[in-house]
Amino acid sequence: MSMKTTLITTNTDVVANAPIGLFDSGVGGLSVFRHLQQVLPHEGYLYYADTLNVPYGNRDNNEISALTLNAVDWLIEQKCKLVVIACNSASAHGLELARNKYPNTPIVGLVPALKPAVQFSKTKKVAVLATGATLNGDLLNNVIDDVASPNQVMVVKWFEPNLVPWVEAGMPQTSDTAKLLKKQLHQFYNQGVDQLVLGCTHYPFFRDFLMAEVNKHHMDMDVIDSGRAIANRVKDLLLKQNLLIEMKQTDETTCQQMWQKKAQLHVGSLSFYASLYDDNLKQVVTRLLSQT
Ligand code: DGL
Repeated sequence: MSMKTTLITTNTDVVANAPIGLFDSGVGGLSVFRHLQQVLPHEGYLYYADTLNVPYGNRDNNEISALTLNAVDWLIEQKCKLVVIACNSASAHGLELARNKYPNTPIVGLVPALKPAVQFSKTKKVAVLATGATLNGDLLNNVIDDVASPNQVMVVKWFEPNLVPWVEAGMPQTSDTAKLLKKQLHQFYNQGVDQLVLGCTHYPFFRDFLMAEVNKHHMDMDVIDSGRAIANRVKDLLLKQNLLIEMKQTDETTCQQMWQKKAQLHVGSLSFYASLYDDNLKQVVTRLLSQT
């Protein structure tokens, strides 16, 4: 799909039945979409995955900013009523820029769920699993300075570059990445970590994998992410702007059909677009969306 840069700086002609736009470097943002779908079941969703450039996490900050703005430009061009940058790495380096460029569109970004982790930690030791771009970004480090440090909570940061490609590949359980992840979980536990924050939107897809190990070894540990909080935030913003769809739309009133027709993949209320699309991606998306 070709991505054009647009000069549109306002989005005043949005209507309530316009879609909610979501963007991630790849399939990770689908973990946020699953929460949105539960909290806002009558909305239409337009998802853009920049699979041509995934992973973002070890890219240069300026490159991430440019790719993020490009994606947000496209979602605004499609007249999305609200945009979720469903990627912690893209939010770390593109959220402020996107908000400055489009002051009339609500733009929601992600930051690892460190605040609840600090609140619930009994051992005062939490771990954040995220990409290098997120771990070095101001969004997370401001939360560490403002919330973790004043509460004497120690934050252990961990980035494993193979995790995102592993999720994009459908999480084969026999891979070395699966073994490494299990090993690291035990290491965190032995260090006294009792809250594990999944600070990348790809990671909630392996939460069940981690929880199986947590339960098997009776570890006193929570594994958390920010998906549900983001969905609630989106609901609040739409309510405030009178843009919430509260009832199922009839075929006459819905204007989703246009995006559905053009989408590379259409699943329920989701119209999925990717900068690089193939059958393998189709299978991964379908499988992740059917994961309970
Ligand atoms: N889902 C992105 C995030 O939340 C993935 C990062 C990547 O592409 O490396 O950070």
